Amino acid sequence: VSERRSLVGKPAEVIVTPALVLDPDALEANLTLMAEGFRGRPCRVRPHFKGHKCVTVAHRQLAAGSIAGITCAKLAEAEQCVAGGVRDVLVANQVVGEEKTRRLAALNRGATVRVAVDSLDNIAELGEAARQANVTIGVLVEVDIGMARCGVRPGPETLALAEVVTATEGLRFDGLQGYEGHAVMIPDPEERRRRVVEAMGPLTETRRALEAAGMPVRIVSGGGTGTYDSTGKIEGIDEVQAGSYALMDAAYKKVRPEFAVARTVLTTVISVQDGYAIADVGSKGVGCEFGPPSVADHPEAEVVKVSEEHVKVVGLRARVGDRVTLIPSHGCTTNNLYRKMYVVKGGRIEDVWPIEGSGCVE
Ligand SMILES: Cc1ncc(COP(=O)(O)O)c(C=O)c1O
Repeated sequence: VSERRSLVGKPAEVIVTPALVLDPDALEANLTLMAEGFRGRPCRVRPHFKGHKCVTVAHRQLAAGSIAGITCAKLAEAEQCVAGGVRDVLVANQVVGEEKTRRLAALNRGATVRVAVDSLDNIAELGEAARQANVTIGVLVEVDIGMARCGVRPGPETLALAEVVTATEGLRFDGLQGYEGHAVMIPDPEERRRRVVEAMGPLTETRRALEAAGMPVRIVSGGGTGTYDSTGKIEGIDEVQAGSYALMDAAYKKVRPEFAVARTVLTTVISVQDGYAIADVGSKGVGCEFGPPSVADHPEAEVVKVSEEHVKVVGLRARVGDRVTLIPSHGCTTNNLYRKMYVVKGGRIEDVWPIEGSGCVE
């Protein structure tokens, strides 16, 4: 808090690098664009927390409108969201084991924190934890719609698990989750749309089968930044779990140019050698799962090598001490590496936001 007070209003030059920097105007533009796209439609957005892990950003998303609640990948993220005042969370993942199911149940004392399931054992332990805590946990059965990660097959397998959830005291069957993660990054928009329709068909058919079998489905949740528009228009899909759209990254910028890059990593050049410069961040400070970071505002420059604490940049005229702004290829893992984001507007520090979910991988 005292660091924040001493920094607000100061020029961005005082930021010690490497540091995560947020452009608040770009963030607001992204949130507005997403909210507008869903206005007046039955489908809502349930923004994924994992892309920024920052409770302040989550509240901005809730305020932007068209929102069902927040999605989290992990229990520990959900704990941060609830502690920060978010009242409706979906853990779009399996929460397994006595300790974690007990913590999930405890969260439901003050908020609605739903969870995805895909196994009988997990359903049983969730029911036990809910009964012990004297709460009801809302459950979505996860359906594998082509990504081949978690989830049971659509149709009878899903119906069978939904029946068990319905019959388990302490649990409430709320619906289905199906994430078309295999489609979100397909570069060609037409091909991406086609794969979305193909993936979502069995999910919405399963919804109808559940309803026909007398099991009301309140929520069918799926979708990401790459597919938000097509998934969000499919009848029978209630929520889109897009997350990356808020802050964006270099990989998603290629697929979704309509959203602005709001998150960058500010670095300092620490060495200039014949034909290249070295900046003071490496894979421990910038998510590189989709390749090396891009150099902002310098299309002529290229990061050609990333090691733990260094990036090697060619094509950049730089001197030792110069600031270089990098755009991570993968934003979600980048935010996991920092405990705060500097909100910078017009070259001045406007605020410093904590990244409460940083390191929350349990
Ligand atoms: C379950 C789930 N839902 C939604 C998303 C969407 O996130 P993004 O907006 O980054 O595409 C992800 C990303 O990995 C996910 O795992």
